This record gives sequence, C-alpha cells and structure tokens, in this order.
Amino acid sequence: MDEGVDLSANNNQKPSKVGLAGKILVGLTGGAALGLSVVCASFVSPAFRKFCLPYIPATKNQVDNIVVALAGRGGSLLDLGSGDGRIVLEAARRDFVAHGVELNLWLVLYSKLDALRKGLGNKVDFYRRDLWKFNLSGYDNIVIFGVEQMMADLEKKFDLECKNGCNVVACRFPLPNKTPVRTYGCGIDTVWVYVFNKPP
Ligand SMILES: *[C@@H]1O[C@H](CO)[C@@H](O)[C@H](O)[C@H]1NC(C)=O
Repeated sequence: MDEGVDLSANNNQKPSKVGLAGKILVGLTGGAALGLSVVCASFVSPAFRKFCLPYIPATKNQVDNIVVALAGRGGSLLDLGSGDGRIVLEAARRDFVAHGVELNLWLVLYSKLDALRKGLGNKVDFYRRDLWKFNLSGYDNIVIFGVEQMMADLEKKFDLECKNGCNVVACRFPLPNKTPVRTYGCGIDTVWVYVFNKPP
C-alpha cells in the first residue's frame, strides 16, 4: 500500500523526466528509421536507381555464369559498379587486366585491400568514380550488374563508347534493345552477352 503511494507520488513528481525519456526514445527510433531509409534508398527509389547502383554482392552462381560467359576471352575487363571487387579479382585470376569502377569509397578501399591480400594487387585497379563519367573505350570486356531503370541509358553509353568487338556481359537485367549473342543461367542469375561492333 505504501509502495503504491510512493510510486504514484514518484510519477507525479517527475513528469518531465518521463517526458524527456519519451522524447529521447522518439529521437532514437526516429534516427533508426532515418538510417534505415538511407540504407534502403538505393533499393526502393526508382529515381535514384537511374544514377547509382545498389551494392548487392554477386552470388556464386552469378560469378560462375560470368566466368563461363567470358570463356575464351582475354585482354582488359571493366566491372561497372564493382562493389566489393569480387568480379574484378575473379577476372584477374583468369589473366584479364581487370579494373573496377565504384562510387562507394569504402567498397573501393575494401576491394584494393582484398586484392593485396590475395596477391592480385598488381593485376587490378579500382577507381572511385561515377560510372556515367567513366570512358569505356579502352576495354575488351565489360561486366555490369545493372538495375532495370538503368539499362536503356547504359545501352546508349555502350553504343557510343565501346570499342569494336567489345563484349558486354550484363547480369540481373538485359539491355532493352540489343539482342544477346549468348545467354547463361536463369532467373536472377541470368547473364546476357552482347557484342558491340562499330560500323565501319
Ligand atoms: C573516350 O576515349 C576515347 C579515346 O581516348 C575518345 O576518342 C572518346 O571521345 C572518349 N569518349 C568520351 C565520351 O569521353
């Protein structure tokens, strides 16, 4: 009985503290929601997707399909939106001169460290750049893990910049207008191979 009285007295004495705690709680959850929306923005915002690739690591199946798609190819390779660098390192292991372009600084640093750790540091390069501003004309092979909203603009960029005979390996989404010369895998692991020939 006494306890009950004490508690109610307590509650009456410190309404402002409860209010503050409440505010802090709202602040924290609001902050968490904001953090979540920032993390999710690249996955949910269609407008954003046109310019910036989300980081979704390639699956084993996807890497395997790319390796098969590139069988018999050599020379230089560029991974557009190279993420953690796994495609670039896989290509370097198969004797491509392999480069990655990635906007996210931390992923670029991670990729460089991973390359050093795996003894491939002298076979690869990673550039922290906007892929839309990166000149593709020097590459024999290009790998792109695209998002649907981006593929039409990418196709235009390939048409303008790819050197004669360049092979473009598109993963997850095909190019909208061009016909692939080969297709591997199925569903989300599908890989489409295109050859870009410059008109003479
Ligand atoms: C890309 O580089 C090539 C060769 O240096 C050049 O001819 C071409 O104009 C460049 N394209 C763009 C879009 O900068």
